[in-house]
Amino acid sequence: MSALPAEAVGRPILSARSLSHSFQAVRVVDGVSIDIDEGRLYGLIGPNGAGKSTVMNILAGAQKPIGGTTHYGGVDITRWPAYRRARHGVIRTFQLSNEFARLTVLENLLVAVPNQPGDTFREVFTTPRRRWNRRQGESLDRARALLARFNMEAKADDYASDLSGGQKRILEILRAVMAQPRLLLLDEPLAGIHPRIIESVCDYLRELRREGVTILMIEHELEVVETLCDAVVVMASGIVIFRGSMTEARQRREVIDAYVAG
Ligand SMILES: Nc1ncnc2c1ncn2[C@@H]1O[C@H](COP(=O)(O)OP(=O)(O)OP(=O)(O)O)[C@@H](O)[C@H]1O
Ligand SMILES: [Mg+2]
Repeated sequence: MSALPAEAVGRPILSARSLSHSFQAVRVVDGVSIDIDEGRLYGLIGPNGAGKSTVMNILAGAQKPIGGTTHYGGVDITRWPAYRRARHGVIRTFQLSNEFARLTVLENLLVAVPNQPGDTFREVFTTPRRRWNRRQGESLDRARALLARFNMEAKADDYASDLSGGQKRILEILRAVMAQPRLLLLDEPLAGIHPRIIESVCDYLRELRREGVTILMIEHELEVVETLCDAVVVMASGIVIFRGSMTEARQRREVIDAYVAG
């Protein structure tokens, strides 16, 4: 990934308007609008049950909203399914499903890479083998470098199911990174990660932002959000109650009340 040109940082990349969602006739997301600028790191915060994960699922295309629109790079993607959003760089983490738990750690990273030559029947015949090998080699180098960064290189050939809980969470983040995100959606990426490792994951997220990746992350630990995020969106009971800096959010009555009530 190369760094974003300076003029691109701060340009709107995603704009969601009046998103709504219900479960069993209960409105859990009620008219949520979110604007995300390119190359920034946002925190999506709020008490349990506020609707944060539901909003993130809607942005990822994993859940269909009952109302509202989402534009990405100026294009209306409201009806796009998750795989199509992912192909255009909207990537979210997924908990390791059984299927992936049965792959090795390294295989998990390699299958996340989009558009590998050989992905389709036609490409097997049309891609020169030399180029194919080079592309695969680059992905392999990248995957190994990522594992080394988190001291997991010795685990490369272990089944993902054999990792500790925290290492699984790191693998989920690294899989998302291998998928070449432009907008990375992270639902509590630090949950379950050992306190000693949290700082290195945070440093890595900062580095991704420097490289031009836009990040929206849900996080409960407000100290982490304050040091990491450029801006926060605070939700409570299905609506957005604040947008701005974490420092300002802490002083807002409605935010304090929401946390006390939640
Ligand atoms: N699949 C579902 N079926 C029914 N209700 C659901 C479902 N998913 C979420 N809900 C409900 O919708 C509301 C919002 O849930 P959501 O998971 O979006 O909140 P959240 O802000 O992510 O909370 P948390 O901080 O606990 O993860 C909650 O009341 C939750 O119980
Ligand atoms: Mg949640």
